[in-house]
Amino acid sequence: MLNSTKVRIGVIGLGNMGSSHASFISGLDNAALASVCDIIPEKADKFAEKFNVKAYYNHKDMLEDPALDAVLVATPHYDHVPVTIDALRKGVHVLCEKPLTVHVNGARNMIEAYGEAKKQKPDLVFGIMLNERTFPYYKKIKDIITGGELGRLTRVTWINTAWFRSQAYYDSGGWRATWAGEGGGTLTNQCPHNLDMYQWLFGMPAKVNGFAHLGKYHNIEVEDEVTAYMEHDNGMIGHFIVTTGECPGVNRLEIAGENGALVYCRGQLIFYRNRVSMLKYLNETKESFGTVENWETHIPVDGSQPYNHPVVIQKFAETILTGHDVLIARGEEGLNQVMLANGIMLSSFNEAAVRFPLNGDAYERKLEELIKASVFVKHVDAGARADLSKSFAR
Ligand SMILES: NC(=O)c1ccc[n+]([C@@H]2O[C@H](COP(=O)([O-])OP(=O)(O)OC[C@H]3O[C@@H](n4cnc5c(N)ncnc54)[C@H](O)[C@@H]3O)[C@@H](O)[C@H]2O)c1
Repeated sequence: MLNSTKVRIGVIGLGNMGSSHASFISGLDNAALASVCDIIPEKADKFAEKFNVKAYYNHKDMLEDPALDAVLVATPHYDHVPVTIDALRKGVHVLCEKPLTVHVNGARNMIEAYGEAKKQKPDLVFGIMLNERTFPYYKKIKDIITGGELGRLTRVTWINTAWFRSQAYYDSGGWRATWAGEGGGTLTNQCPHNLDMYQWLFGMPAKVNGFAHLGKYHNIEVEDEVTAYMEHDNGMIGHFIVTTGECPGVNRLEIAGENGALVYCRGQLIFYRNRVSMLKYLNETKESFGTVENWETHIPVDGSQPYNHPVVIQKFAETILTGHDVLIARGEEGLNQVMLANGIMLSSFNEAAVRFPLNGDAYERKLEELIKASVFVKHVDAGARADLSKSFAR
């Protein structure tokens, strides 16, 4: 619990996302922007001047500042690990951008460091920016599934091809879309949200078969098109189909259960409700070609409440101030999403199914191999226009 009315948060990494976070924090009642940090001094200076706070060019210097309660880490993915661990060891609360990091071993190191740091400071808070958990439609879907209205789930098919990205996007940063700089493609950058949502709604699968295409539509060395097939211990199967190379894309989530099908697509949530359990009917009917009568119900969703990044930051600050855990997602919860991404890629590389929990060493070795073998020449053009709000508007 913090004896204050506002949590003083420093933002580390002032690119597309970090600069937005600095604005979000400034607009909250229970948080204040304490300082900003970027390894590019001009960026740090620019935002320090804009928000009238102190600039740092190295996160370790920022962490020495006594006028700091928490940090929001918005650097490229690999750096999430050292920056987060350094902050936790200093007793500074951390809200880390998604994904926790690139591979399972790194994520486990962060979680272990949090456990160690909590021994010194039991009320230390570690959260992850899984902002899509606050989206009204996803919350409603979670509510319906948890309520058991679909009965036993049999199939989930998620096609999310609405993550279209241009070559200019990939060229906009030297770290983007390389094994050494970003550590992966769409599963590491855009899809952490969807992979987290998948495990949040349906739990972890027992195994996955992944099929990934590297640089199929873009001049990049990492995956830009992925299909995964998953099997769960309870018999449910899952399909996960994503790409950054399809336009118009679609975000269509189909959830089939014994009591009907729930379909989210293009801003509508429809429940095709069976009159009786289709599994019961399937076993008991004498009709060879009969089907279960079902009714189409459009589910109203209240979108009037605040959602997205500011809510995640606000709940993070509230948890620090009150000592009551109201986090949208705890840091530890970020592990499953990284495990799913790593499992899909490992399966694709090995052309074999991967079982969960994943052997972190196997994927880390594969990644090291890819980095060593890379001959990709990265083209950087920092002149790309970037309106991040367009990336959220799906
Ligand atoms: N939650 C979301 O909706 C969302 C959306 C976009 C990006 N992100 C995440 O935000 C993070 C940053 O992505 P981005 O698109 O803003 O990248 P970006 O390239 O635009 O910005 C990264 C910034 O970090 C700085 N940096 C690099 N290493 C640093 C270090 N060690 N210390 C301090 N600064 C450092 C860079 O100079 C750059 O200014 C990624 O983890 C990404 O996945 C999240």
